[in-house]
Amino acid sequence: MTYLADDHRYDTMKYNKCGKWGLKLPAVSLGLWHNFGGVDILENGRAILHRAFDLGITHFDLANNYGPPPGSAEENFGKILKQDFLAYRDELIISSKAGYLMWPGPYGEWGSRKYLLASLDQSLKRMELEYVDIFYSHRPDPDTPLEETMMALDQAVRSGKALYAGISNYPADMAQKAARILKELGTPCLIHQPKYSMFERWVEDGLLDVLENEGIGCIPFSPLAQGLLTNKYLHGIPEGSRATREVFLKKEHVDSAHDKIIRLNDIAKLRGQSLAQMALAWVLRDKRITSVLIGASSVKQVEDNVDTLKNLAFIDEELKMIEEVLQS
Ligand SMILES: NC(=O)c1ccc[n+]([C@@H]2O[C@H](COP(=O)([O-])OP(=O)(O)OC[C@H]3O[C@@H](n4cnc5c(N)ncnc54)[C@H](OP(=O)(O)O)[C@@H]3O)[C@@H](O)[C@H]2O)c1
Repeated sequence: MTYLADDHRYDTMKYNKCGKWGLKLPAVSLGLWHNFGGVDILENGRAILHRAFDLGITHFDLANNYGPPPGSAEENFGKILKQDFLAYRDELIISSKAGYLMWPGPYGEWGSRKYLLASLDQSLKRMELEYVDIFYSHRPDPDTPLEETMMALDQAVRSGKALYAGISNYPADMAQKAARILKELGTPCLIHQPKYSMFERWVEDGLLDVLENEGIGCIPFSPLAQGLLTNKYLHGIPEGSRATREVFLKKEHVDSAHDKIIRLNDIAKLRGQSLAQMALAWVLRDKRITSVLIGASSVKQVEDNVDTLKNLAFIDEELKMIEEVLQS
């Protein structure tokens, strides 16, 4: 059956400016790192994308290596896009990245111009797109001068294969240098994608200040700490959850976070929110955050997470209680 987007899709979502730039992103964006690969059920992914877009999520985030196998999330996304979303292409912000291992040999990962531009071409082919909206350097490369990596991003934008350039996982000092180089090249840095959640707070030690000074947007990934900051692991590790796969999220992570999750969940209850909603609102409390980049394995999770927007405000007492748990 043909997918028709909900006429009310723009009624409730909030859209934030990406730093000082004209592009706005939804306060909640959806990433396709998990649950959209060749090993996953395509129809589940399709249902998640439909519901997300119907709720005003206009931004879908990918990378060359998402799957498994690597590349399959882009292929699957391309299929769904072609069948259901072509009429909505101009309403979508689609991003991809290059930085992690994609093919053998010296040109298959990191940050050389050779790798980045070849990878972007491959991503466009897999998704059957003429351009992506944002193309990221996925991680800094200690062996390649920043100038070279940034020249590749500049070239990606100038060639029309990407509309904007972004960086991900760059520490504050490198982000500052990257922003300066991109400015000199004439292609500004639109956005930074760092890991940030209640459980992972390195961005507070300088990176957010750099982004604010440079007018760069910020879209934190894994804001739910891969599911730890939800009601999922309150009573052990449920069947089918990410932690059962023991790859990116492990039993030891669940065990060590358990006490904090229970206490944070109690605070969320006082706010009349799910733990996931409180965790997302907590990241969004900082005005320098453009959007939270969530993952989801079901339509229900997308709905739960978008409902965060119903209560974004914190009183000082709540923030103090949360801080006490996080520092304990
Ligand atoms: N730039 C980078 O280096 C980088 C790295 C990692 C991720 N990312 C991007 O960030 C995106 C999000 O990362 P992430 O998937 O780790 O984010 P996350 O939002 O922290 O975790 C998502 C997982 O949490 C669980 N979940 C989500 N909402 C829930 C809810 N309401 N109730 C209960 N459980 C819920 C689900 O786990 P189950 O699957 O177990 O149900 C879901 O797969 C990725 O897709 C990718 O686009 C970027």
